[in-house]
Amino acid sequence: MASLTSYASAAAEVTHLSQQDAAEIDEQLMGALGFSVDQLMELAGLSVAAAVAEVYKLGEYTRVLIICGPGNNGGDGLVAARHLYHFGYRPSVCYPKRTPKPLYSSLVTQLESLAIPFVPVEDLPGNLSEEFNIIIDAMFGFSFHGTPRPPFDDLIHRLVSLSVIGNSAKRPAIVSVDIPSGWHVEEGNANGEGLKPDMLVSLTAPKLCARKFTGPHHFLGGRFVPPPILSKYGLNLPPYPGTSMCVRIGKAPSVDISSLRENYISPELLEKQVMPDPFDQFIRWFDEAVTAGLREPNAMALTTANKEGKPSSRMVLLKGVDKQGFVWYTNYGSQKAHDLSENPNAALLLYWNEMNRQVRVEGSVQKVPEEESEKYFHSRPRGSQLGAIASKQSTVIAGREVLQQAYKELEQKYSDGSMVPKPDYWGGYRLTPKLFEFWQGQKSRLHDRLQYSPREVDGSTVWHIERLCP
Ligand SMILES: Cc1cc2nc3c(=O)[nH]c(=O)nc-3n(C[C@H](O)[C@H](O)[C@H](O)COP(=O)(O)O)c2cc1C
Repeated sequence: MASLTSYASAAAEVTHLSQQDAAEIDEQLMGALGFSVDQLMELAGLSVAAAVAEVYKLGEYTRVLIICGPGNNGGDGLVAARHLYHFGYRPSVCYPKRTPKPLYSSLVTQLESLAIPFVPVEDLPGNLSEEFNIIIDAMFGFSFHGTPRPPFDDLIHRLVSLSVIGNSAKRPAIVSVDIPSGWHVEEGNANGEGLKPDMLVSLTAPKLCARKFTGPHHFLGGRFVPPPILSKYGLNLPPYPGTSMCVRIGKAPSVDISSLRENYISPELLEKQVMPDPFDQFIRWFDEAVTAGLREPNAMALTTANKEGKPSSRMVLLKGVDKQGFVWYTNYGSQKAHDLSENPNAALLLYWNEMNRQVRVEGSVQKVPEEESEKYFHSRPRGSQLGAIASKQSTVIAGREVLQQAYKELEQKYSDGSMVPKPDYWGGYRLTPKLFEFWQGQKSRLHDRLQYSPREVDGSTVWHIERLCP
């Protein structure tokens, strides 16, 4: 069976900190580097919540129990509870040894204002698996040493008994904040009888014990480490992607593609509700995709075939749609253009994942009139105009620098700001549809599929709507 596996780059080289270095770094952050403990706690808790949300998707995982210890690790847990609430989860907090400092009591007040329940240890359900999908262990951090005292010894024991059930859907996922509670900060799960969390969110940098973590999800959080700390401790940490507050360390677990299955829940797509004209129906759905804020709702797969019928697909951007057809722009020397010159039949596919919708459109393709391409070319940003000239799309080049050189020369050539002429080998295509299908995902694979095909009725063409089996 096919499997998808991705690897975080340079996983093996990530630095692991000793307990002493970790303590020193904290001191420097909160000393010379100007951070307050509240700030670091806020960012740490946000990272934990972000990592949890990245792995344990809402819908399947909703109810979260956060067990907070008396120190900073517990504070990180309280902050994570607040963020998880705002992300849409239903957190409950078990905070048996409250710290009477303003930072902690303010966090409690914030959680109380969100009506997040605080569950006393004695009121925790006997079977945690029935009540919670995720348990966050925020009991002890890297500064802890010794043996956990009541009630934490028993709480850790309960999590240990849960974690031996194995990686089954029948028990909550266990997430540890920075250090799995009860572990030695450097030696880890020394006697092998401690907690085995499914996820570890290391903060600032992984501590030495994280080398012994064998669960499927190791993340780094605490996106605040400034360059003086990185250089002083020779830290090699993975870069955070985009605006993310967490980054995966090491290998992601492999995914069995055959097990990826969504149970779609959507409004029904009924014959009596759809527009009689498929162009109107398309525009209605397209507008809804735009309103829903989907990223590039106009991205579509274009499939062409050459004269031997050999197919090929690629993404293009829909740049116009009206009753004449669907328009995109490209290079007339590209492979798709070559296919279309031999065989004008093509298919378009738009997929709006978040709305459980796909639209298929099939028809024949012609170039758009030159003036239309001209007008569109000049509406594009200048960089895209130059890029279109520089790229002899679908041809082989010796290296990226060839393209960069061509682009640079064009920049110089048009540095006076004069109009960039559209090259003859660039322009639009329009697909005139002969078939549409609107697909709406539904529960238990009972999806809606409505197909529109043209029929001649009394000398004029009307669109005939049929329902297809999913
Ligand atoms: C989201 C997305 C949008 C794209 N839009 C276009 C486009 O509008 N026009 C285009 O020529 N290539 C576009 N591309 C690049 C094409 O997928 C493809 O690489 C290129 O057109 C060459 O294809 P060909 O060699 O089959 O002709 C897009 C790629 C992606 C991923």
